[in-house]
Amino acid sequence: MSSTEFHFLTLDDVKASGKTVFVRVDMNSPLDPSGKKILDDTRIKMTHDTLERLKDAKVVVGSHQGRPGDEDFTSLGPHSQLLQKHVSQKVRFVEDVIGPEARRQIKNLTVGEILVLDNLRLCSEESLSASPGILARTIMVQRLASLVDLYVNDAFATAHRAQASIVGLPHVLPAVAGELMAEELDALRQAYYEPHRPSVYILGGAKAEDKLPIIENILKTGKADRVLVGGVVANVFLRASGVDFGETENRKLEKSALLLDKARSILSRYKGKVVLPKDLAVLQNGERVDLLVAKGVEGVVRDIGQQTSNEYAEIIRNSKTAVSSGPLGVFEEEDFELGSKTVLEAMARSGGFTVVGGGHIGSYASMLGLDQRLSHVSTAGGAMLAFLAGEELPGIKALMEAASRNKATR
Ligand code: 3PG
Ligand code: MG
Repeated sequence: MSSTEFHFLTLDDVKASGKTVFVRVDMNSPLDPSGKKILDDTRIKMTHDTLERLKDAKVVVGSHQGRPGDEDFTSLGPHSQLLQKHVSQKVRFVEDVIGPEARRQIKNLTVGEILVLDNLRLCSEESLSASPGILARTIMVQRLASLVDLYVNDAFATAHRAQASIVGLPHVLPAVAGELMAEELDALRQAYYEPHRPSVYILGGAKAEDKLPIIENILKTGKADRVLVGGVVANVFLRASGVDFGETENRKLEKSALLLDKARSILSRYKGKVVLPKDLAVLQNGERVDLLVAKGVEGVVRDIGQQTSNEYAEIIRNSKTAVSSGPLGVFEEEDFELGSKTVLEAMARSGGFTVVGGGHIGSYASMLGLDQRLSHVSTAGGAMLAFLAGEELPGIKALMEAASRNKATR
């Protein structure tokens, strides 16, 4: 996807008043494994702007929560109760997706009401991954499309999935981006396609396999001037350059030879671009201890060290664009939040354009009271990673196709 092709319609381009509008949101939230309690309602809250703009419409809200077979695959009853706190319309919930009861309630909607359908993934067709044309022929899409006039995609966090409610519905209905979708794309477009320089990426977290394709992409396309690494991502780069983590940890890091090779190749092709930690923190006798990487790191790494945190903060403060995904350490533990906290504070103070994404780190930024001082905190995890890795997002592509279809028929 290139920035010039980035054209889709928004709620400014259509008249929704009086119409029945299907809004695909992403209310997929972290749940307490025992009580099925919603632990963080940020994604539910973030649907507000779009739903507020649809006050004069009859609104059908669809979302998924978890995947069939997983512990967090639940009904959306609790989500709809929370949603009621964030919108002015009356919210109803139906324990059905495309059956007779759901259809009856959609038909009976009046202006100013919101009907939340149950977990879209209760319908097996939602979990098919296929082309928009094939998904448009599913019973799910056919039934829903016959009852609504307009499709709004506000689920940026699910834009990387080629599923029926993401690509099938916009194939057969007039389709526009919601407020959150437009805001997320605008922030990422600015940071990724039009970065003010220097542009710095700070990538951490536990999954190096998600971050290496991003590093490869942003360095290959010249989008980043520096990449600062933490978490397991840093350990993979350090191991690839010969740092000793002790027998057990070395073995863990060497499990994926492919990943180590990729890290080695990035380091040799883009010399000086990836900044590796000079010190790391481990737990020794119940306490945080910072160890110099050059001397070898014995133990399980839980954070970047103090010296590294200071160095990263300095680079970030001098940047004009900073994008961060994934924590640099175990920020849930007070002794090991230093790296993640320092980086977020430096971003907030940089005065540049700053984007933070990838799930928990966004909630952590809010907890620290820094979210308002960042240019954008994304609600997305995987979708933002796929975007930064240069992948085409099926949900965005569907909106762009709908926009060009609209142009052709005008
Ligand atoms: C996410 O949290 O990544 C989105 O809600 C998509 O969910 P999925 O990974 O189950 O498709
Ligand atoms: Mg996911």
